[in-house]
Amino acid sequence: MTTSVVPAAGRGKRLSLVAPSPKALIPLGGQPLLCWTMAALEQTPIVDSIVLVAPPDDLATFEQLAQSGGWRKLFAITAGGEDRQQSVWLGLKAMPPQTEWVIVHDAARPLVTPQLVTSVWEAARETGFAAIAAIPCADTVKRSLDGAIVNETLDRKQLWLAQTPQVFAAEVLRHAHETALAEGFFATDDAMLVERLGLPVRLVIGDLTNLKITHPSDLLMAEALLKARLGFK
Ligand code: CTP
Ligand code: MG
Repeated sequence: MTTSVVPAAGRGKRLSLVAPSPKALIPLGGQPLLCWTMAALEQTPIVDSIVLVAPPDDLATFEQLAQSGGWRKLFAITAGGEDRQQSVWLGLKAMPPQTEWVIVHDAARPLVTPQLVTSVWEAARETGFAAIAAIPCADTVKRSLDGAIVNETLDRKQLWLAQTPQVFAAEVLRHAHETALAEGFFATDDAMLVERLGLPVRLVIGDLTNLKITHPSDLLMAEALLKARLGFK
């Protein structure tokens, strides 16, 4: 069984100047952003069940949305935590016990396609451990220790920008989160928790249109991409 855990408990602070939080409820193409994300997962045949991680103060709103959305794969809505890592951990604890593969996908990436989710899932199963969507870095990347002077230019050929979906054997991801929790280790994605255990994480070429809605300009780009994709006005 494959379960998708969808962290959606963030407040969207970097968007809050233009939109009310939480970010998952921001209107995009005529419906809350979260509805696009959920629809993509609902339409992905290899996804059997979905655990939605919602902001603790907005659980009732998310439950209403689930009712009107008719998400038939939704297994549970659970309250998230202080940061993304905690929210995913709480999502893992709410999965159906028979889950063998976990697809972590941020609610904040509403333009994900069923094809990309499936490719990453297939790659993870080939390795037996984990795979993530990622994009080869197109920009030249500098490291600066003080934010004023460049100390180093990194080798772009070795750099990849991680996206979600990220797919893991359920036991591997559970163990990685438990270890991080016990050691007080904090990561910005789930793959990093698995990498530090020395386990392989396979790269799958992601999709440039699989934007993460972070800043106000991302909403404008997402609207334009959806228009091009679906032809809505
Ligand atoms: N997330 C979460 N729980 C948190 C923080 C983030 O479930 N405590 C989720 C967000 O809802 C989002 C994903 O993790 O789907 C990626 O996080 P990000 O893009 O940083 O969203 P926010 O934290 O909401 O945005 P910001 O950092 O601007 O506040
Ligand atoms: Mg955040």
